Amino acid sequence: MRKAKLILDKDYVISPIDKRIYGNFVEHLGRCVYTGIYEPGHPQADAEGFRKDVLELVKRLNVPIVRYPGGNYVSGFRWEDAIGPKEKRPKRLDLAWKTTEPNEVGIHEFASWAKKANTSIMYSVNLGTRGPADAQHIVEYANHKGGSDWSDLRIKNGAKDPFDIKLWCLGNEMDGPWQMGQKTAYEYGRIANEAAKMMKWTDDSIETVACGSSSFQMPTFGEWEYTMLNECYDNVDYVSLHRYYGNPHNDTPDFLASSMDLDAFIRTVAAICDAVKGRKHSKKQVNLSLDEWNVWYHSHQQDQDLHQREPWGTALPLLEDVYNFEDALLVGLMLITILKNADRVKVACMAQLVNVIAPIMTRPGGGAWAQTIYWPLMQASTLGRGRSLLPQITSEKFDTKHYADVPVVDAAAVMDDDGNVTIFAVNRDLMEDVELTCDLRSFGSFRQINHSVLHHDDVKATNTEDHPDTVLPHEIPAKLDGNPLVLPAASWNVIRLTRE
Ligand code: AHR
Repeated sequence: MRKAKLILDKDYVISPIDKRIYGNFVEHLGRCVYTGIYEPGHPQADAEGFRKDVLELVKRLNVPIVRYPGGNYVSGFRWEDAIGPKEKRPKRLDLAWKTTEPNEVGIHEFASWAKKANTSIMYSVNLGTRGPADAQHIVEYANHKGGSDWSDLRIKNGAKDPFDIKLWCLGNEMDGPWQMGQKTAYEYGRIANEAAKMMKWTDDSIETVACGSSSFQMPTFGEWEYTMLNECYDNVDYVSLHRYYGNPHNDTPDFLASSMDLDAFIRTVAAICDAVKGRKHSKKQVNLSLDEWNVWYHSHQQDQDLHQREPWGTALPLLEDVYNFEDALLVGLMLITILKNADRVKVACMAQLVNVIAPIMTRPGGGAWAQTIYWPLMQASTLGRGRSLLPQITSEKFDTKHYADVPVVDAAAVMDDDGNVTIFAVNRDLMEDVELTCDLRSFGSFRQINHSVLHHDDVKATNTEDHPDTVLPHEIPAKLDGNPLVLPAASWNVIRLTRE
């Protein structure tokens, strides 16, 4: 059996964990909203049309914040279209996804859904086809208590209390040619600065997220972050990062190594933020919002075919990746990477919540179920609260097509306020178990140890409506007497150590 070692010390802390790293994303895209969270007429719909079966899965996922309403969608969105009486709301063409948006769900409905889901909202404003004034208006509408035109309109539309949205995205992926209103880094930096300034003047309790380059691979990457931050550094709190991975060539070891790329991406963007900080002689630190991350590739071909057949539909089945077990392993590795960068990553949103590259799937008129990737996210969000500890890992390494020195075992560890420790670990070896010795030097003894494992012999196994429990975490026996733990081949492990 392979061997690995993990050393943890309670005084070696990376950072307190911001719970918003377990965030998610609801975009007006495909079936995320319509027939996802909202389906009036469904047997499980509540009085407002929200699916209760979906709400239950969302609540169990423990999602502290949800980004809304886009994504690419937001760059053509007029938020005023989706307020007031539903029968008067216009249907609009959404150029981002070539669909028709009925505007039945807007900020009022989404705020009500968020309350039911025990979550908060991260709201993105349109800085593609619109500008700082519109961004200021929506902050006033959402957060001002009353006595002004926009806030009184909110009250007239049924919401006496402000929505009190604390976190605001300044547009979406503004360097992408696919974006409505694409901008250069300088153009975007100027607009983001003016919008953020006016939004914060309206409500000084809010935080803002500037758009980073839309991916590590973009030709604009790096230069974009540096140039735009030079323009808006003082008025923004976070820079966004977006990252998706896929396994189109069926090279699982290489796919599972791609969390190393995420680590490099995070560290590089943090370095650029600090370079701007240095250049400006600033004392303020801008942190990171990884507000789109996931596996995304299964549905690419299907989406192209669908758009050729049926443009301008509503609730089309777009980006409906069916996730398998190896995807859950990479999601676990991405969560480990986020936790190990908890000093800089303060917000992270898996993209997206329901149906669209999502942990939760639904059938219109039918059931709702958890995909494979639901489980590592749910376990991390539930147990990964507190402080992220610095894990010293000794593990064998291997090379893949795109990565060198990939550790067989990767792990993160979290200590809660009572001194209980949770270790999240992935064994990347597809064939061999690993014996993991844990040296917990300064912790003393623990009363109980629980070891939950997510594993399937077939890395391509999926959960479906008929077989929702194919890939599910299960407990394995674990001892307290100093024996090493066994991480089964190809597994996501959650090891919980409870204090005496
Ligand atoms: O999450 C799907 C899409 O991916 C988002 O709309 C966009 O921001 C990104 O390119």
